[in-house]
Amino acid sequence: MESAKTPPVTKEKVLEENRRVHALENRLYLSRHPEQTNFFQNSILEKTVNKVCVTLKQGAKILDLGCGTGYLSLRFLSKGYHVTGLDLSQEMIQAFEESIPATLKPQARLVVGDAEEFLLQNQDDYDVIVLSAILHHLFDYESVLRQICAKLSSGKILLVFFEPLKQEVHSPIKFALHRALSWLDEKLYRSVMWVKNIPVLDDEYHHSDYQRQFGGIDPNRVDEILRDEGLKVLQIEKYCARRYGLHALLANRVLGTQNTFNMFAARP
Ligand SMILES: C[S@@+](CC[C@H](N)C(=O)[O-])C[C@H]1O[C@@H](n2cnc3c(N)ncnc32)[C@H](O)[C@@H]1O
Repeated sequence: MESAKTPPVTKEKVLEENRRVHALENRLYLSRHPEQTNFFQNSILEKTVNKVCVTLKQGAKILDLGCGTGYLSLRFLSKGYHVTGLDLSQEMIQAFEESIPATLKPQARLVVGDAEEFLLQNQDDYDVIVLSAILHHLFDYESVLRQICAKLSSGKILLVFFEPLKQEVHSPIKFALHRALSWLDEKLYRSVMWVKNIPVLDDEYHHSDYQRQFGGIDPNRVDEILRDEGLKVLQIEKYCARRYGLHALLANRVLGTQNTFNMFAARP
């Protein structure tokens, strides 16, 4: 708990913490986050990327803000698109760079920097701007979303992907089961990380995952901002992500709980 003497969290503090935490995440980022690579999430990722690609011409330009180690970017590169990947963390960008196959390197441009600064200074046009699990790391995600919208001209697309959702409790029993499944998922996760000798970054995310302190990102608010900025929201998908695919399947098919969302929008 923050005491009266704790200085207020500033944008600089959130940036500094994100640099520190992602320097620790580094090459192990996706190994440490099986919730992004399990079979359940993979099928959502595949389906979403295909949906974006259907609308794109050959050689289209994609901007991946907070690209990390290339979770989304690598998919778009392998489909032949040009990708600019921007990330605050030098270490994450380096890990991403090392993982790009030599044949795809000419399609990739990687930049280290803050998303907000990049959007202010960069004048290039992009056919698609993608954001995967970055909004909750931002000090003022609403203003960054508005900056992004301003960059999208007619026909251009925005994909918000894998964002932690502000949860609502409708049924206490369902919520208790949701918590129990989450507990089991985390227990298994910790055992697997221990066997694989991957250190878990327990309390490191407090300031870096800044928006989690407010419960995550509210998809209704994102929807409101996008509409206000003149975008047409084409799809909002809410579901429950879990470390392991079987647990995600149970959460979605049996409990029907939600903790994550994706959103697809375009400028008419
Ligand atoms: C949870 S990771 C997601 C990485 C990747 N998009 C993915 O889905 O695997 C969040 C990423 O956002 C980056 N990030 C955080 N704040 C940022 C900012 N202000 N500008 C640019 N990148 C930022 C972090 O360095 C990190 O790589």
